[in-house]
Amino acid sequence: MTYQISSLEDYKSTYKRSIENPESFWAEQAEHFDWKKKWDNVLQWDFDGPSIKWFEGGKLNITENCLDRHIDTRGDQVAILWEPNNEDDAVRSYTYKELLAEVCKCANGLKSLGIEKGDRVVLYMPMVPELAIAVLACARIGAVHSVVFAGFSAQALADRVDDAQAKMIICSDHNNRGAKNIAVKQVVDDAMDIGCNSVNHVVVHKNTDGDVNWSDDVDQWWHELVDVQSDQCEAEEMDAEDMLFILYTSGSTGKPKGVVHTCGGYMVYTCFSFKNVFQYKEGDIYWCTADIGWITGHSYIVYGPLLAGATTMMFEGVPTYPDAGRFWKICEKHKVNQFYTAPTAIRALMACGDEWPAKYDLSDLKVLGSVGEPINEEAWHWYDQKIGKGNVPIIDTWWQTETGGVMLTPLPGITDAKPTYASYPMPGVQICLVDPDGNELLENNCEGLLCIKFPWPSMLRTTYGDHQRCKMTYFSTFEGMYFTGDGARKDEDGRIRVIGRVDDVINVSGHRMGTAEVENAINEHPNVIESAVVGYPHDIKGQGIYAYVITDEAFDSVGDFIQGVKDVVSREIGPIAKPDKIQIVSGLPKTRSGKIMRRILRKIASGDASNLGDISTLLNPDVVKEIKDNAL
Ligand code: WT7
Repeated sequence: MTYQISSLEDYKSTYKRSIENPESFWAEQAEHFDWKKKWDNVLQWDFDGPSIKWFEGGKLNITENCLDRHIDTRGDQVAILWEPNNEDDAVRSYTYKELLAEVCKCANGLKSLGIEKGDRVVLYMPMVPELAIAVLACARIGAVHSVVFAGFSAQALADRVDDAQAKMIICSDHNNRGAKNIAVKQVVDDAMDIGCNSVNHVVVHKNTDGDVNWSDDVDQWWHELVDVQSDQCEAEEMDAEDMLFILYTSGSTGKPKGVVHTCGGYMVYTCFSFKNVFQYKEGDIYWCTADIGWITGHSYIVYGPLLAGATTMMFEGVPTYPDAGRFWKICEKHKVNQFYTAPTAIRALMACGDEWPAKYDLSDLKVLGSVGEPINEEAWHWYDQKIGKGNVPIIDTWWQTETGGVMLTPLPGITDAKPTYASYPMPGVQICLVDPDGNELLENNCEGLLCIKFPWPSMLRTTYGDHQRCKMTYFSTFEGMYFTGDGARKDEDGRIRVIGRVDDVINVSGHRMGTAEVENAINEHPNVIESAVVGYPHDIKGQGIYAYVITDEAFDSVGDFIQGVKDVVSREIGPIAKPDKIQIVSGLPKTRSGKIMRRILRKIASGDASNLGDISTLLNPDVVKEIKDNAL
């Protein structure tokens, strides 16, 4: 059984041990799993390459550890509990035994269509059990899954499929999301028209009664493919460092990059962190509200909980459907013990009023988690008082797609929790703050850039197809360190508070977006000459998107133009990237070398234009006044 820290003393000594002797610490954690062959080396690393190898030479299959390993001890325990979008529809559940059978059937189906070890498969599906089954089916046969959040547009989907050179897309016919029905297969058809030349098969899971267009050459119904297969499928033998999945995420430049995670280290760390971060105990019902399209869903809906033999809940719907009590009603209905959500959801529900949580019995809750963006003090206290009744520890967990698992968090009931502080590093995580020159800030009570100076098992290994980009983005800013892109402060006792990104990445409702990516989309509009996008503080979303655009003015109505810009962003990326505010400007503040002064634009967007600093050296200082006067 994976080690579970049980007291403050235990945390301190475990942390110390993990830092003083990381190899023996992680080898000890890895011993708890089923390996087909034991590793030769625990760790070999070089941040300069970067080259990171954990448990090299070790052979395993992660699904044997998620499923087969539990059959004797908990085969009839519920592994996945599924709550549908429409509350009157039937709840579905899969025991570990049933889940293993379904995963094997799906895996055999993929094999019958020619999918082999190393092939990439893109999953574009709603939050239904079949998504988790497809993820695990890929892992069963050594295919590399790349889940694309089903809110992304056809263009964004095609970009990811093309980058990954995926052989197959698995999707649903339509998705139910709140009162909306989304024609997902149609989006895939559109993506296939734009690109996706590497795709031979599209497997369609029938999720609704909705109609779809069909092409016999490529399309294949899930039920026709999967239902006839054997429920036994031998697990492919994988090296610890073989690729497990690619997950695309936004950076400060260019198009999204494919973060690569590998089998062995990811398995060890997601299980260890799940057990410890949530203090999961036998029989608990655990619910993470994230979508499997994001890393949170990979690590803490699918892999971490199943590796730990937990009961993990999946929810198809949205927090406010049919009303703002839905989350709390589900907590009561399923007697949820650990609840994990994002600050944006907490703020949105807080705005709906205290009467919603008051209606339900939330007394089974033992841990309340937060993830994805900084949680503000007001939301923290509301979560604490109205959901936890002042009685349930809150864990503000900081991590990233690239880190694979939680890096900073209080441990519930073990370490203290200070509002808005992600607080303490997990065992094995050598976090540090540095100044802009890369000098480590060793004293408490300071502010700096957040780095990690030693490898941990679930860290990214590369960015797919472009190792240089991985090196440049994460390992070149400061020598010998992984740079997170976040700024942070340390309080007088050494607790860490993550303030937010210091690069051109914005965090909108917990969704990570590159400003360059949004600008590229806006620039596709025929009447746009140039644009600049920045984030600004937004009450519910955390950050909103503020776009400044220069146009050729060759349009009839400003209203239509603004709508047109939003439409083009929805088309290029997805509705989540639509600007909240669009200001038409005659120019953008630029340095003499032509660089856009985002600092100024950010200040104006945040309504704080009183002190813009020295603007006299700008190429076009006059434009600043105009922008300021017309700010939205
Ligand atoms: C960025 C990573 C980790 C899964 C979801 C997001 C921000 C994340 C926190 C937190 C302050 C946070 C950071 C980070 N972030 N959690 N608890 N407090 N900021 O994963 O999409 O890769 O985004 O989200 O800025 O760098 P992601």
